[in-house]
Amino acid sequence: MMEWTDRHCRFFHRGLTRRALLYTEMVTAEAVIRGDRERLLGFSDAEHPVALQLGGSEPLRLREAVQIGADFGYDEINLNVGCPSDRVQSGAFGACLMREPELVGDCVAAMTDAVALPVTVKCRIGVDEQDPEEALDRLADAVVAAGADAIWVHARKAWLKGLSPKENREVPPLDYDRVYRLKARLPHVFVGINGGIADLDAARAHLAHVDGVMLGRAAYQHPALLADVDRLLGDPATGADLAAAAERMIPYAERHCAAGGKVSAVTRHMIGLFHGRPGARQWRRILTVEGTRPGANAEVIARALAAIQQSGALDEAA
Ligand SMILES: Cc1cc2nc3c(=O)[nH]c(=O)nc-3n(C[C@H](O)[C@H](O)[C@H](O)COP(=O)(O)O)c2cc1C
Repeated sequence: MMEWTDRHCRFFHRGLTRRALLYTEMVTAEAVIRGDRERLLGFSDAEHPVALQLGGSEPLRLREAVQIGADFGYDEINLNVGCPSDRVQSGAFGACLMREPELVGDCVAAMTDAVALPVTVKCRIGVDEQDPEEALDRLADAVVAAGADAIWVHARKAWLKGLSPKENREVPPLDYDRVYRLKARLPHVFVGINGGIADLDAARAHLAHVDGVMLGRAAYQHPALLADVDRLLGDPATGADLAAAAERMIPYAERHCAAGGKVSAVTRHMIGLFHGRPGARQWRRILTVEGTRPGANAEVIARALAAIQQSGALDEAA
């Protein structure tokens, strides 16, 4: 997710779940090819498994970007066919590609041909006036024929005219049944579902119909739910320890600050960790107010943790 799932966020989330697949922000193929690769693509070994999401619609450029991503060590490459922003539409990629399944198939073929890594696609059920029954099947058939290893479907249309990207995540109605029907039609293909899934109970219910569940806003805003993901996926271990996940960020943030970074670039992703628990407000206040003061450093995490320990939140979290 743009501006959200950067490397600091992913490192933090990995302290809460060992098994969930984490995704980068979308990076355009052009940026990968021409931009500052270390800044755009660099990540920590601790983040694995992590998928690089690319935006683009030129098969040869995507092929090149995929090879670069593979060299960086990503575990999967995902093609974005779902982003509705104007900037993305003017570049003729993202959700508007729902109208061009053959081109998306060519893109995926070039990508799968380039590397041995899994290549996956994230799409919508359709755009604008498209009939989702037809549009999603056509897109899915094209990418499966091209060798895609999975299809992730944000279970609503994108309305490309008149809605902001934010509205396009909220206004077009969700249609989970449409995604279930895709899975039923393609039993041999990994089909994952996304959109409006608020917690792990809901995720479990979807898993009766599809192969995977992708959590966006819920995972970011309430990262504590990630602590139970491994158990949901069958690990016998108890849920991850929230305090330990926060503590793990102290040396990480120290390294980031020592390299000239701001601690807030790390802590901004941690603000929701204790959401709904005693002390959550203080935790949030210390990270947002003290964490953004000039010269703030990794100690702010230790101070926020001490406050949360005093509040008793960790007893409940245990
Ligand atoms: C801030 C933000 C940035 C996003 N950036 C991306 C992106 O880069 N690529 C993408 O495929 N989806 C992106 N999305 C959409 C989410 O991946 C997801 O499809 C959408 O929010 C619906 O799922 P949710 O209800 O679980 O959040 C973004 C969403 C948000 C809130």
